[in-house]
Amino acid sequence: MEQKELTSNFIDSKRQSVETKQLTEDGRYKRRIRSFVLRTGRLSENQKRKMQEYWSDFGLDFQQELFDFKKIFGNENPVVLEIGFGMGQSLVQMAKENPHLNYLGIEVHTPGVGACISSAVEAGVKNLKVICHDGVEILDFCIPDESLQGFQLFFPDPWHKAKHHKRRIVQPEFIQKILSKITSGGFVHLATDWENYSEQMLDVLQGFDNLENTSKTNDFIERPDFRPLTKFEKRGLGLGHGVWDLYFIKK
Ligand SMILES: C[S@@+](CC[C@H](N)C(=O)[O-])C[C@H]1O[C@@H](n2cnc3c(N)ncnc32)[C@H](O)[C@@H]1O
Repeated sequence: MEQKELTSNFIDSKRQSVETKQLTEDGRYKRRIRSFVLRTGRLSENQKRKMQEYWSDFGLDFQQELFDFKKIFGNENPVVLEIGFGMGQSLVQMAKENPHLNYLGIEVHTPGVGACISSAVEAGVKNLKVICHDGVEILDFCIPDESLQGFQLFFPDPWHKAKHHKRRIVQPEFIQKILSKITSGGFVHLATDWENYSEQMLDVLQGFDNLENTSKTNDFIERPDFRPLTKFEKRGLGLGHGVWDLYFIKK
């Protein structure tokens, strides 16, 4: 069996637990290393109400088959995927500023999904769908090959300690998966406020011959104006952290 694993997990607004198991070739289950720990946190009454009322407009459920983006968004505009949007304000802002694109956001933290839907309703965006699930599984099961115009990952959990670096989502295997989902000419945009992680991100992206770095200095780009300030970025700046953006194009 290849990497497309059978899993017994599901994260949704009703069940705040995840049991991610993968079936190995010899028929046993083993735990898959996850890039997240589910944080506790309750949905506010407003988030809960918005989520219930607007799930059919903005929410997508995990399924073990490929998404049909034309049907989902009702048009053929290019689709940009973001994993780990947090509370979603910057994603909603990007969707509002780019009505010619469709945005698909994935986040495991249910209150974040609720907050994002709430902001999306307020902003009146029509080009955004959100999923409350592990992004790696969504890639494995739901995203058709070469169906995305771009992938963005802003301030992923840095997993500071060396013994936890294996939990960082940006690994060669993950980027390989992402690249199979992006069309040629599409982009990979990563940002972090943790220098050691920025170096790992650069290393991983530079390892792919079919990726071209848009940085003039062949490393990082200037912080682009089109990326709104995110909640974690703001927090990092407050702590005196730097910010590193990487922007690569698939050849
Ligand atoms: C450090 S926060 C950054 C949030 C937001 N991008 C920002 O900059 O404010 C990272 C987020 O990624 C989410 N996350 C981590 N791994 C994920 C995965 N495999 N699938 C979906 N979300 C994930 C976490 O729940 C968390 O909300």
